[in-house]
Amino acid sequence: MLANLIMEAKHTVIFSGAGMSTESGIPDFRSATQGMWRHKDPAKLASTYALEHNRDEFVAFYRARIEGLQTCAPHDGHRILAEWEQRGLVHSIITQNVDGFHALAGSRYVAELHGTISRVHCQHCARVYSAVHYLEEEGTVCECGGFLRPSVVLFGESLPDDAVDMAERETYAADLFIVLGSSLQVSPANLFPQVAKRNGAKFVIVNMEPTELDYLADLVVHERKIGEVLAEANKIICTNE
Ligand code: APR
Repeated sequence: MLANLIMEAKHTVIFSGAGMSTESGIPDFRSATQGMWRHKDPAKLASTYALEHNRDEFVAFYRARIEGLQTCAPHDGHRILAEWEQRGLVHSIITQNVDGFHALAGSRYVAELHGTISRVHCQHCARVYSAVHYLEEEGTVCECGGFLRPSVVLFGESLPDDAVDMAERETYAADLFIVLGSSLQVSPANLFPQVAKRNGAKFVIVNMEPTELDYLADLVVHERKIGEVLAEANKIICTNE
């Protein structure tokens, strides 16, 4: 059914969450078993409060995530989405992920709603450095002397205007809106699927566990790995082309 929806649609938008990258070896946040927020408090680590009042733990947390990224890579699911974009089957990706893997796998039209940890920037002069710089001894100090922090949206910060503008345009243009690997618990990101549905798009959720918006979806796929679901849909699409 997913393959048919993709082949019939005129403007398909993918909305991805941390579940898109667990098969690349990156833990998600709220999975019952491995979710990162099961053992850590996001408010104490991934927030403006942490940036100001908990700086050592903040830096250690993001250094560990940047370090982890160095040994991970996009998986076949990311590559299938990039191929579908090239073949006109997917128009864009709205992602909550900060690993940069959609672009690394070749997707060109990606809105990074929550920024990225592939770059860090200076709180004072906004100069940008690549994330690996953060792993060096003096990696948190800018040439201007300012404090360097990952270019990720922290809890308490607003989403980047350009990503939100693109996500809004794509959400309104979508006639098929597919969620891949998100618990859909975090706003305002979780408003986009609701707007797409209200705007008449077919709404699909592919997620291991139930989500907050399952009741709204035209198709829900639980307890299946995203990589496998995309590979199976791709096989059907390729035999129908
Ligand atoms: N296949 C399918 N679903 C999966 C897979 C997989 N291989 N791996 C994990 N999942 C599902 C989990 O069951 C979980 O419901 O992906 C979902 C991921 O949900 P979250 O961990 O809440 O991640 P996400 O929805 O992206 O979180 C949103 O919260 O902490 C903030 O800014 C952070 O962008 C993040 C936001």
